[in-house]
Amino acid sequence: MKTTIKKAILPAAGLGTRFLPATKASPKEMMPIVDKPLIQYAVEESISCGIEEFIIITGKNKRAIEDHFDSAYELEEKLKSTGKNKLLEEINKLSHVNFAYIRQKVALGLGHAILCAKPFVDNEPFAVILSDDVIDPEYPLLKEMIKIYEKKKCPVIALEEVPMSEVNRYGIVDGKPEDGVYRIRDMVEKPRPEKSPSNLAIIGRYILTPDIFGILEKQKPGAGGEIQLTDALKRLVKKTPIYGYLIKGKRYDAGDKIGYLKATVDLALKNRELSGDFKKYLIEKAKTLR
Ligand code: UTP
Repeated sequence: MKTTIKKAILPAAGLGTRFLPATKASPKEMMPIVDKPLIQYAVEESISCGIEEFIIITGKNKRAIEDHFDSAYELEEKLKSTGKNKLLEEINKLSHVNFAYIRQKVALGLGHAILCAKPFVDNEPFAVILSDDVIDPEYPLLKEMIKIYEKKKCPVIALEEVPMSEVNRYGIVDGKPEDGVYRIRDMVEKPRPEKSPSNLAIIGRYILTPDIFGILEKQKPGAGGEIQLTDALKRLVKKTPIYGYLIKGKRYDAGDKIGYLKATVDLALKNRELSGDFKKYLIEKAKTLR
């Protein structure tokens, strides 16, 4: 796919507190769904949209991410000499991809993580992918967002309708339907349900333009004491149109235990090697539940 979006920023420097103790010393982004880490799903999704370069924002205890996308000489030799060619192919699948790593020294928030990538972005639009939001690999959300960007030449953010009781976990927009998308009027990070402008939550896929950096540079900490991307977008929308695209497929919040379990079950059921046996197991298991 030919696209105007060539670069993706993958923030991965968060502390992953919802998944402690698993994330105390290992990155949340390396937790596997079936047999691939979360961040690999994000990279493969981006590659399928024509994205060629990745800027991964890392922090303490995140070295495993760099190792995962690096070559692994000893392992490769072992797989070669034992004729495990399919596995060899699998681990080398992304060996042609360019990764740059930037360290966010302190986890000051998503907005700050994105600002850390500024020197690598030049003056071009880019995608931001949060790998703990797993999108069903069969549903081309990012492709659809890029198409909207190409038409409108303005930032595009992914939206999902969430129950009103959950709006306090998300950035929430006030938007007006227009031409199959939402024209964003305003947004607010983690509102109380009674103060929320809607139940349209921002989820972890964004197409942004470099003008966000100037705003992030001046952005003060917001909800949770973090430099919030939503607060910066709220200021950007006063100057330039931002569009929201309502997701049509399935998204899993894999940074949350229940979301992670749902993603694991659903993707295992779609896995050709596992689905038969796993389905049988689930059917038997369901009989024991009430
Ligand atoms: P989350 O809020 O989902 O991740 O941030 P978290 O902070 O790691 O997890 P919890 O909420 O404590 O469980 C969304 C994305 O932004 C990144 C995270 O790594 C995640 O991919 N992030 C967040 C950063 O890179 N830096 C930050 O300072 C904060």
